Parts: sequence; C-alpha cells; structure tokens
Amino acid sequence: MTTVLIMLVRLGGLIALGLGAAFFAKYLPVEGVPLLAHKVAGGIAALSLLLLAIQGFSRATVIAILAAIVASATPAIGIYQQGIAEAEMAKLAHIVHILTGVAVLGLAEILAKRIKAARVFAPAH
Ligand code: HEM
Repeated sequence: MTTVLIMLVRLGGLIALGLGAAFFAKYLPVEGVPLLAHKVAGGIAALSLLLLAIQGFSRATVIAILAAIVASATPAIGIYQQGIAEAEMAKLAHIVHILTGVAVLGLAEILAKRIKAARVFAPAH
C-alpha cells in the first residue's frame, strides 16, 4: 500500500509540477484541459499524501500532521489564487501554492521512508 501511494504521489505530483511550470512559462493556457489535468494530477498526489499521513500517523506523528495540512492547503490555495484581484496577494498565493505543491512530494518521500523503516525494525511476533 505504501509503495502504491508513494508512486501515485510521484506520478501525480510530477505531472502537476510539469503542467504548473508550463502555466508559469505561458506555454499552456491556465484553462480547459491543461488546467483540469493539473487539478486531477495534483488532486491525486494530495489525496495519496493524505492517506500516507494516516498510515504513518503513529510512527511519524509531527510529519504526518504537517503532511495532512500541506495536502489540504495545496488544492485550497490552488483554487483560491484564481479569484484574487490584488496583484501582490495573487503573487504571494502563487508562491505559497508552488511551495506547498513541492512540499507534497518531499513530505511523501519522508513519510514513505519512515513507514517502511518502522516495518523493517518492528519486532517479530
Ligand atoms: C502536487 C501538487 C501540485 C503542484 C506541484 C502544483 C504546482 C503548480 C504550479 C507550479 C503552478 C503555476 C504557478 C503559476 O502560474 O504561478 C500551479 C498553478 C495552479 N494550480 Fe497547482 N499544483 C498542485 C496541485 C494543485 C491542485 C490539487 C489544484 C486544484 C485542485 C491546483 C490548482 C491550480 C490552479 C487553479 C493554478 C493556476 C493558477 C493561476 O495561474 O491562476 N494545483 N500549480
């Protein structure tokens, strides 16, 4: 299960990051199919991280709580940033969304490693 979840985070996260970079470079329009694909890929990554956080809660509690916050904040900020009229606030929201998006990938790697390590060192019953 952990392996499947970390693979989903990597796949969805990298697709979302790639499409996000294309939006940033104005290579793709921030609408229609590219935006929907970004939301679906990013959503899969965020949801998988949330499940990893639940799975790793007892072994890495602080990181699991941080991961659950980041997994919820990323889509929320992503959707919120579209409706901001004020330029400075919009820029801030974009930066925070990119940071939390990258944190999705990083926290998932840490959690998956901790969950697997706990299994290796768990005493045999
Ligand atoms: C791993 C997850 C994610 C990563 C790495 C990520 C990354 C990015 C990046 C790099 C951009 C371009 C920023 C810019 O144009 O300045 C972007 C834009 C955007 N993201 Fe995400 N994102 C993720 C998840 C999501 C999710 C789950 C949603 C919504 C359900 C979402 C909604 C949006 C929207 C609406 C934009 C366009 C904002 C605009 O330019 O007005 N993102 N994302």
